[in-house]
Amino acid sequence: MVSTMSMRRRAAIAAVALGALPAGCEEPLQPVSEAPTLLAEAGDYTMWARPKNREKRQPVVAPHGGFVDIYINDVVVADLAMVLPEGLLAWSEDAMVVLAGYDAAEGGSLVQVAVMQKQAGVWAWEQYDGSSDQPRFSGRPDVCVGCHSAGEDFIRSFRLPDPPPEG
Ligand code: HEC
Repeated sequence: MVSTMSMRRRAAIAAVALGALPAGCEEPLQPVSEAPTLLAEAGDYTMWARPKNREKRQPVVAPHGGFVDIYINDVVVADLAMVLPEGLLAWSEDAMVVLAGYDAAEGGSLVQVAVMQKQAGVWAWEQYDGSSDQPRFSGRPDVCVGCHSAGEDFIRSFRLPDPPPEG
């Protein structure tokens, strides 16, 4: 007589013989050789805060899709809250801003994602088409830096905190 246990074991052995293993078990993990993208580092940026003047999606003439949502990480949130005698002169290390560009004022499709992150005092940039996870631009592209140099420490959609009002 065959016990339940040995029937189960035989079924398991048969499954292995037929190659019915989950796909992930068949190949060794690939070594991770590339640094993660800024976008991967950002994770679910839609849960981040928004600058005060950018709580809603806004139309833009910039080359970032017709309508943009701007998201800021906690470093930028803390920077924006700073009240210093001379104002804040530059965004802090690890500051990160993500722009999501859409083709409509409400709903619509995500047509672009752009990211910037302050690393060792210099901004790193990435731009993506729509929902692709492969950046079209990354690093320090002249095209991004050139136009963004018009902003306060390269940010175009909101300003560094001013000095407190006098008196
Ligand atoms: C022709 C000018 C121009 C170029 C080129 C440009 N941007 Fe922008 N970008 C802007 C403007 C203007 C805004 C602000 C839009 C707004 O008011 O919401 C902006 C906003 C952003 C933001 C949100 C933070 C901020 O500065 O307001 C990111 C991130 C960004 N751009 C990334 C990029 C990247 C990456 C590139 C290069 C691939 C790039 N931009 C190229 C003009 C430009």
